[in-house]
Amino acid sequence: MHLYRPAVVSPEDLVLTARPAIAEIAPEVNSPILTWSDGPVGPTIEAHSGQRARILLRNELNEPTIAHWHGLRPPEEADGHPRFAVGTGGTYAYDFLIDERAGLYWYHPHPHMRTAPQTYFGLAGLIIVRDDNEAALALPSGEREIALVFQDKRRDASGRLVYNPVGHDMMEGFLSGEAFVNGVLSPTVEVDSALYRLRILGAGNARIFRIGLSNGAPLVLIGSDGGLLEEAVELPYVDVATGERVDLLVDLSGLAAGSSVFLRSLAFPSPSGGMGMGRGRGMMGMGGSTLPQGATMDVMEFRVADTVREDVRLPATLTPLPRLSASSAERRRIFRFDSMMMSHTINGRSFEMDRIDERVPFGATEVWSFVNDSRFPHPVHMHAVHFQVLERRGGRGRVLPWERGWKDTVLLLPGEQVDVIATFDRFRGLYLMHCHNLEHEDMGMMINFLIE
Ligand code: C2O
Ligand code: CU
Ligand code: CU
Repeated sequence: MHLYRPAVVSPEDLVLTARPAIAEIAPEVNSPILTWSDGPVGPTIEAHSGQRARILLRNELNEPTIAHWHGLRPPEEADGHPRFAVGTGGTYAYDFLIDERAGLYWYHPHPHMRTAPQTYFGLAGLIIVRDDNEAALALPSGEREIALVFQDKRRDASGRLVYNPVGHDMMEGFLSGEAFVNGVLSPTVEVDSALYRLRILGAGNARIFRIGLSNGAPLVLIGSDGGLLEEAVELPYVDVATGERVDLLVDLSGLAAGSSVFLRSLAFPSPSGGMGMGRGRGMMGMGGSTLPQGATMDVMEFRVADTVREDVRLPATLTPLPRLSASSAERRRIFRFDSMMMSHTINGRSFEMDRIDERVPFGATEVWSFVNDSRFPHPVHMHAVHFQVLERRGGRGRVLPWERGWKDTVLLLPGEQVDVIATFDRFRGLYLMHCHNLEHEDMGMMINFLIE
């Protein structure tokens, strides 16, 4: 199938209607989905840094919803906390400034206990913020810049999407057997033999994508969650867990017309130990196929339609980044993530809508240590701030190249402790920190913190 390219819209006077719909998600398969407009992923909101967002959410689902702007740092009433969820027929008006560096952010529902199915069925959309700094680098743009939502989904015997988590799915998260990009099954996009900028969001319910190219060519990483890095770095692959974003340059300039290269999720050892390593076979059950975490998966195909002659120029330095140092932190807090017996907890507790779990003084700089006591990966996400990853102990034992720069989500594998540092100086109010594995989040692996 062809890659679905969502409409690009302005954040000013935007109406987003969440509603059930039917879409062609695979060749000749029309499936029930949920949509923000009419496609299998939401329209891409494109904004300039500092631009005002005035967005009206209309809920035409048959259950409550609320939109959250993941990675943006609005005032609390615009942040999409689950206590603001509106019922069927309800609306919610957002009015805030998109005061962020150029980067790839995204939006998705955040109603308590229903984030997973709503996001899975199609309520995920991208937000691209641009600024002058980035424009000056003259990165590939227009047709040569492609924004991609990576997910994995299960389909029933007639090819339609199913979401039917049982038993183990509630522990590990809902892993599926087929990759979807921008809401359609493993699509193809026609390209020139040229340099491309690929901006990728990991949005599977529980899937970690180890993104690499089928021809073994390196990727050039230029940005992470909160925008550009200081310098470009060449890598054989990058890992993207749910909620994380990477900004990549991919050089297709040597390829002949008619040739293809695949973006793939490469094999890695199961983070939970045991089986499930390497090239997994899809297990086809009644409820659709699944592949274990770490299994190889073809994600999408780039087919070279035209050869062009151009000098490919990779920028060496990108943008200066100030570095926060642990010595500037006023306080350190520890959060232990645990999963056992059908529950997912932070410091032994599961989410309660009105309980304030942490109080942070406005303006404070703090180190938050995330510790994984469980057998499962937990991509940890903070609202209200961007953080820097200071260090990782245990497990992979270091800060990875795609974890440099400003982040809002960081992957915590079993046995790891990851320390992040942030300054809580945007707005006062009640915000969330949670695991972004969508089943874990729905089951309450989330806390409220009050910036006061
Ligand atoms: Cu992607 Cu609490 O959000
Ligand atoms: Cu968020
Ligand atoms: Cu988790």
